Amino acid sequence: MADLMLSVNKLEVSYGGIHAVKGIDFFINKGELVTLIGANGAGKTTTLKAITGLLPLKAGDISYRGEDTRGRPTYRLLRDGLAMVPEGRGVFARMTITENLQMGAYVRTDEPTIKQDIERMFGIFPRLKERANQLAGTMSGGEQQMLAMARALMSQPQLLLLDEPSMGLSPIMVDKIFEVVRDISAQGVTILLVEQNARLALQAADRGYVMESGLITMTGVASDLLTDSKVRAAYLGE
Ligand SMILES: Nc1ncnc2c1ncn2[C@@H]1O[C@H](COP(=O)(O)OP(=O)(O)OP(=O)(O)O)[C@@H](O)[C@H]1O
Ligand SMILES: [Mg+2]
Repeated sequence: MADLMLSVNKLEVSYGGIHAVKGIDFFINKGELVTLIGANGAGKTTTLKAITGLLPLKAGDISYRGEDTRGRPTYRLLRDGLAMVPEGRGVFARMTITENLQMGAYVRTDEPTIKQDIERMFGIFPRLKERANQLAGTMSGGEQQMLAMARALMSQPQLLLLDEPSMGLSPIMVDKIFEVVRDISAQGVTILLVEQNARLALQAADRGYVMESGLITMTGVASDLLTDSKVRAAYLGE
């Protein structure tokens, strides 16, 4: 049997009376790049927030590396290797690039290797190195996305959740971000990628799930979903 990284079972999440996630099941094996696609309001961000402990579960359970996440706050899960790059990036605007990267490592205690990892991030994202002392809030959208990803990587994640990394970026920047997602995946980090750019997401992923109105309505190998007529009509603009 494959090695499970994450398993989500009969998950329900609501905001007061609004039932945003209505009982979904999915899993991610170690080393996989899995994408969750779906229209605006489908419940994708809500699902990620439930996984990282930012929202309470109404029902169901979530198991990360074989252990129930219930009762573990977000920072504990981060320390245990579960990191998220949120929708809208969430960089610390009034801190420099380097300070943002240091903040990403706050759950770590290995000072010397933190410095090495900052250099490693500058290797992956040369643009960040050029701007090391610039305030994050003055960076372009694409640069902020790179910073948000680098900051998450500074926590040395085993499972990385990415919420719409390509949103609002130019085509060139989108290509760059997807290239980095593939590289991170190739280095062995397990990834759950939420995207509205379904085509690129399915091209990059091993498997995919389609979410509609709080439910998972389709799943399969990414290359099969890419050629599926329903997916093509609904999500690939064909
Ligand atoms: N804080 C909140 N209070 C009340 N309802 C909310 C809240 N956040 C989200 N919702 C609702 O929950 C549903 C799912 O929202 P969610 O943000 O998870 O969708 P999404 O799939 O991430 O959409 P998008 O692609 O636009 O980011 C939507 O109907 C949304 O209006
Ligand atoms: Mg969202």
